[in-house]
Amino acid sequence: MTDKNSKKKENTRQSGPKHGPGAMAMNRPVVKAKDFKGTTKRLLQYIGNYRIQLLVISLFTILVTGVMVVAPNFLRLIINDLQRIINGSISQDQGISNIITAFVVIISLYALRYVLEVILHLLGNKVSISIGKKMRNDLRTKLEKLPIKYFDEKSTGDVLSVFSNDVDIVTNSIQQSLINVISSVFQVLGILVMMIIISWKLTIIALFVLPLYVFTTMIIAKKSQAKFKAQQKELGNLNGHIEEIFTASKIVKLFNKEEEAYKEFSTINYKLADKMRGAQFLSGLIRPLMTFISNLSYVAVVIVGGILAGATNPLLVGDITVFVNYQRNFAQPILNIANIANQLQSTIAGAERVFMVLDETEELNKATDDEICLSEVDGHVLFENIDFSYSKDTELIKNLNLEVKPGKQIAIVGHTGAGKTTLVNLLMRFYEIDKGGIYIDGIKTTDCTRVSLRKKFGMVLQDTWLFSGSIKENVAYGKANATDQEIIKACKQAHVHHYIETLPEGYDTVLKEDADNISQGQKQLLTIARAILFDPKILILDEATSSVDTRTESYIQNAMLKMMEGKTSFVIAHRLSTIKNANTILVMDHGQIVEQGNHQELLEKNGVYADLYNSQFLNKPI
Ligand SMILES: Nc1ncnc2c1ncn2[C@@H]1O[C@H](COP(=O)(O)OP(=O)(O)O)[C@@H](O)[C@H]1O
Ligand SMILES: [Mg+2]
Repeated sequence: MTDKNSKKKENTRQSGPKHGPGAMAMNRPVVKAKDFKGTTKRLLQYIGNYRIQLLVISLFTILVTGVMVVAPNFLRLIINDLQRIINGSISQDQGISNIITAFVVIISLYALRYVLEVILHLLGNKVSISIGKKMRNDLRTKLEKLPIKYFDEKSTGDVLSVFSNDVDIVTNSIQQSLINVISSVFQVLGILVMMIIISWKLTIIALFVLPLYVFTTMIIAKKSQAKFKAQQKELGNLNGHIEEIFTASKIVKLFNKEEEAYKEFSTINYKLADKMRGAQFLSGLIRPLMTFISNLSYVAVVIVGGILAGATNPLLVGDITVFVNYQRNFAQPILNIANIANQLQSTIAGAERVFMVLDETEELNKATDDEICLSEVDGHVLFENIDFSYSKDTELIKNLNLEVKPGKQIAIVGHTGAGKTTLVNLLMRFYEIDKGGIYIDGIKTTDCTRVSLRKKFGMVLQDTWLFSGSIKENVAYGKANATDQEIIKACKQAHVHHYIETLPEGYDTVLKEDADNISQGQKQLLTIARAILFDPKILILDEATSSVDTRTESYIQNAMLKMMEGKTSFVIAHRLSTIKNANTILVMDHGQIVEQGNHQELLEKNGVYADLYNSQFLNKPI
């Protein structure tokens, strides 16, 4: 229910419509691409490697369509010959031999069509699967190179939706639209030719009705699309409402707001039902109307055909039957083409979103060679004239300077929002500084790769990070070759060994996706054990014991002190009692270091730190 969440929700879009071949040009609204032409061009370049396969697919589609269009003509010949035999206008032998020939041809054509369609299908799938694979690969590689900032701004849902929905839409419709467009165009042309061959007079009648048919459909489809859009919007409102009630169910109950919530729901639900009726009514109108119009045209064709049957160059039964059959199949491909235009819109919109991710600015990285950088460090850290802000309009850190000698313990204290975590973010290059430089052992951190830089740090954060895997794997994350003894030793030091032993599976207990089968405090102890095992030269503890109760905290205090021995460490702690012994205490406020010194010095100074300390000391329950 927070502002941030609702904003993200607005961003989540529905996936574009999926039109099967022959689907009507209606139903769901189409999300339009911003730059249709540019993105289309880029998409064509992107799939350029598959040019030959796509060409083969096109050729096969033309062949299949050709067979499809020509085959009924042989049915016509068969029916006509039957009629001629009955009339006595040809001999029985002649007629039967004609029929057998036509029969053999027609069976071979259908067999050929079967084979071609199978190949086409397999080929089409192969191409779209490989394009999808390439796209997901490119996206994956890209995500790795994106700065943390990007993930701050985007919701997981949006990123996931690009991976699954958008890639799917694009790849599916590349082959589908290609096949549909080619097949539809050739069907229209082929059928027209066949109809003219049978009778140009009937063709004129058929063509006369056609625009009526196509335009009525298109007009109704357009109207119904608007209605469906409105329906979709109400559905979105309804979903949003339900989600809100869900996430806030406790609050709703707490404040006795059930009745109000229900009223709101009823209103939205009523509106949705209303919009649905409108949409369904129109789309329900379409099919019967189309059938009616086409039936009219068949009647016209049959009547005129009947009249022509008596003419000097008479039409036969086969001619009329097959003509009506062609006529029946004539409008569909034309409607399909209109449909594909919509499908292309959502394809290009999907491709646009994929390309948008691929175009995001990457983390800047000058260094390429991991080895030359920070192979062995003493742990000397220098912040020099640092400027940094998360966004351009709010300045945070301005001209910050700080030197930390190797092996010293630095505590950072200050109110929430003072910029403590930000300092860590800059040190680890989760964010890039705007001005100045951070040096480790005299080497500028921007001259090293992020990987080599981060390898030098051990971190225990307030938001514990565990992955789904066994406890053992989680603790050994920073040191892949750790032995069981080492892992157990680290866990003992972090005072989590006994707890692990009480679990039925012990160290092999698998942590769930978000590790909600263990408590927050235990999660923190596990990450502390991980840092102890990793044994880095520089340690960062950002409110590392904030979720641990005071008793456990005092237990692991010693372990942490031991862990910090001989290491440069940055300790951010809420409870000032935990950092009293730090070599230097930095007091931060509004992105600035406002006081600096050891505990005794700062108390004597009687400034911000003394205030903070006294207030905590006084409030502490005894
Ligand atoms: N990822 C972020 N994007 C934008 N602003 C942020 C981000 N993280 C922190 N801030 C802002 O920067 C300021 C300092 O935050 P932070 O360093 O997390 O404070 P502390 O750790 O001392 O509580 C706060 O005003 C906070 O709102
Ligand atoms: Mg913080």
